[in-house]
Amino acid sequence: MSFSSPGNAAAENLDPHRMPLHVAVIMDGNGRWARRRLLNRIRGHEAGAETVRRIVRASREVGLAYLTLYAFSTENWQRPNAEVNALMGLLERFLDGEQAQLMENNIRLRAIGQTGRLPGGVKAALERVTSATSANDGMTLILALSYGGRDEIVTMAKNLAQEAAAGRLDADRIDARTVADRLETAGIPDPDLLIRTSGEMRISNFLLWQIAYAEIFFTDTLWPDFSRQEFLSILSAYQRRERRFGRV
Ligand code: IPE
Ligand code: IPE
Ligand code: MG
Repeated sequence: MSFSSPGNAAAENLDPHRMPLHVAVIMDGNGRWARRRLLNRIRGHEAGAETVRRIVRASREVGLAYLTLYAFSTENWQRPNAEVNALMGLLERFLDGEQAQLMENNIRLRAIGQTGRLPGGVKAALERVTSATSANDGMTLILALSYGGRDEIVTMAKNLAQEAAAGRLDADRIDARTVADRLETAGIPDPDLLIRTSGEMRISNFLLWQIAYAEIFFTDTLWPDFSRQEFLSILSAYQRRERRFGRV
């Protein structure tokens, strides 16, 4: 089945005029979900992949323009090989399995992060799905893969320094726009809403620059248990917040 934009925001008591343009999610708690069931952590990641499908679907239904999911951080490479390999295998299967759904629902896939570090099979699947969906304009799904906010800022700083040294950029004219245009999220509006599951109250190196004025929601729910209903209720709570951006 496919959904038509702008979706059924009204049916969920959401105000279609106050929808966040961009929602970012730190999908945390797969390991603890598995441990509580005396299962291998990998089972938790598999269950988490189901939640990804559910939340992508809900996001498209309510008419979000951008959804960014933190799937693997630069620090996550330090996990045991077996877990990293399982996550990479899962990611490859996810990409292969979702292409048809993404096409059917007019969703474009993009990736941010050091994708060059990903195994060949994942890289190939990512390139395949990214290019197959590049003309879709219903929603943009951004996967943060081998992503780190500090790494992104360091790369940006290097690029600025090189441009200035080459005489292509006047250092005195660098402003927030100059910086934003050189991040991996160039052209993507900053997240309005950031959600982190699993009860941890930290950012873990996610979108450091971009979340300057994001509304943040933490929930104790572990990612595999995160439901469409809870997602919609967070969207609804977001709509009741007053965003001030430093003004009165
Ligand atoms: C999030 O779940 C998935 C990734 C970071 C890849 P975790 O694997 O971090 O789960 P916990 O935090 O150990 O429960
Ligand atoms: C953040 O979760 C990264 C992702 C969700 C991909 P982690 O589980 O890696 O973060 P920490 O270690 O609890 O800060
Ligand atoms: Mg975690």
